[in-house]
Amino acid sequence: MKLSLDTSGLTEVRADALILGRHTDDAKLTPALAAVDKKLGGLLSKVMAAEKFEGKIGQVSHVHTDGRLRAARVLVAGLGPKKDSGAEAVRRAASAAARRARDLGARSAAAYLAAEGVPARARAQATVEGAVLGTYRFDKYLKEKSPKRLDSLVVSEPERRSQAAAENGMRAGETWAAATCLARDLVNEPANVVTPAYLARRAQEIARAGRLGLKVLERADCARLGMGAYVGVAQGSHEPPKFIHLTYKPKGRARKRVVVIGKGITFDSGGLDLKPADGMYRMKDDMSGAAAVLGLFQALPKLALPVEVHGLIAATENMPSGTAQRPGDVVRAMNGLTIEIGNTDAEGRLTLADALAYAAKEIKPDEMLDLATLTGAIVIALGMGLSGVFATDDGLAGRVLGAAEAAGEKMWRLPLHDEYKEGLKSDIADLNNISSQRGGGAIVAGLFMRDFTGGRPWAHLDIAGTAFTERELPLGPKGGTGVGVRTLLAYLSALAGKR
Ligand code: BES
Ligand code: MN
Ligand code: ZN
Repeated sequence: MKLSLDTSGLTEVRADALILGRHTDDAKLTPALAAVDKKLGGLLSKVMAAEKFEGKIGQVSHVHTDGRLRAARVLVAGLGPKKDSGAEAVRRAASAAARRARDLGARSAAAYLAAEGVPARARAQATVEGAVLGTYRFDKYLKEKSPKRLDSLVVSEPERRSQAAAENGMRAGETWAAATCLARDLVNEPANVVTPAYLARRAQEIARAGRLGLKVLERADCARLGMGAYVGVAQGSHEPPKFIHLTYKPKGRARKRVVVIGKGITFDSGGLDLKPADGMYRMKDDMSGAAAVLGLFQALPKLALPVEVHGLIAATENMPSGTAQRPGDVVRAMNGLTIEIGNTDAEGRLTLADALAYAAKEIKPDEMLDLATLTGAIVIALGMGLSGVFATDDGLAGRVLGAAEAAGEKMWRLPLHDEYKEGLKSDIADLNNISSQRGGGAIVAGLFMRDFTGGRPWAHLDIAGTAFTERELPLGPKGGTGVGVRTLLAYLSALAGKR
């Protein structure tokens, strides 16, 4: 989507659709709506009354202007009640209105979504995020693609003194939304395309374009480093594993060194503990954490944050075969701990264990975060609307939750309850990869991984319920959601002291 800023005034913008906002409790027409309504001889207020437009989030009313305004149509988007106002209200209003504009056949739109208490920069950023994410489509494999698409968006900022802020917000929104769309594309692509080698190639493109550091470790390199847990998962597949290590270093001194790890199982069949058909069908999305990391690294060079960031993806398939890992096998992870394989379908924690151990030993970060479609149990606990957050450090947990809130991604913290570690005991190894006790599966997976963090502050995001959606959401269609990308960007921006 082509973006530009316009300060010429709302009655002057030329576009197929002019998008304006309204809260449920805006007493009368806002000044912007009143000015437009006057030009239209009161048509807008009449239509809103007739359609019982209340200003709820997601609601959109529209009129054709029949030449009485430079814009061909006016769309009014609900911003919800003022007490709930914030960037997310702007995103959702922008998304709903951009979808409506597109479906009406508009190719260009101009938007001014003045929500209570949202300053110009945040407003511009949220407007772009909402419009781009809301109209996202994954149609590359369709012969008949919809001809309706919104090609350009003008962010209107009538306040002249807010022009620079709006420009910055618009560009940030563009970067954040593009990073999210990259993650969505990677998740939506099938597993016969997105292999570990494919992820490594995409990492290479991103590294080249952004002048980032990149190291890709092959199977033998990983074995030499002692990553027996990761290599064990990979041994059942014909697709060679790729351990991807991206590095972003700021120009000046870094305020912090952060590691971000994404689970990168390009297809999870379960291995010899094979999943039933229903449970296996969607398992191309088991690399959603990796997709979020790649999205993040596409954005980082454009944002120039003063933080050193390392991205790790232990990419592999989890397949059954004559060479596959067996239930009951024992492997040794990079930190020396031995693991008995209680279930080959608990493979994510094995790959993440070695990624965490590698990070602690080779990178020595101040903080580590991982994103993983890790457990069915988190879907039982929190459903499809919330990601689970686990952390060994309360400050880190607070910053992650704050970033998620700012990004509009819903997350909820769960405890790393020490007593459940008992269930991970093995008779012949230091740990079993599954618990002998029932319940609390998402917590148990977190406790397992904690043993590989080398005691460094660590947060784990279980995105099994939120990485993929079976129904349309306010900010996107069915399919990959790109969850985590914007939370990570908000998190790192806040560390850098700018958002
Ligand atoms: N990738 C799955 C988790 C998953 C389940 C993601 C549903 C998305 C939707 C993970 O590798 C897995 O298979 N976990 C098992 C662990 C069990 C064997 C301890 C699970 O949750 O059933
Ligand atoms: Mn699995
Ligand atoms: Zn998995």
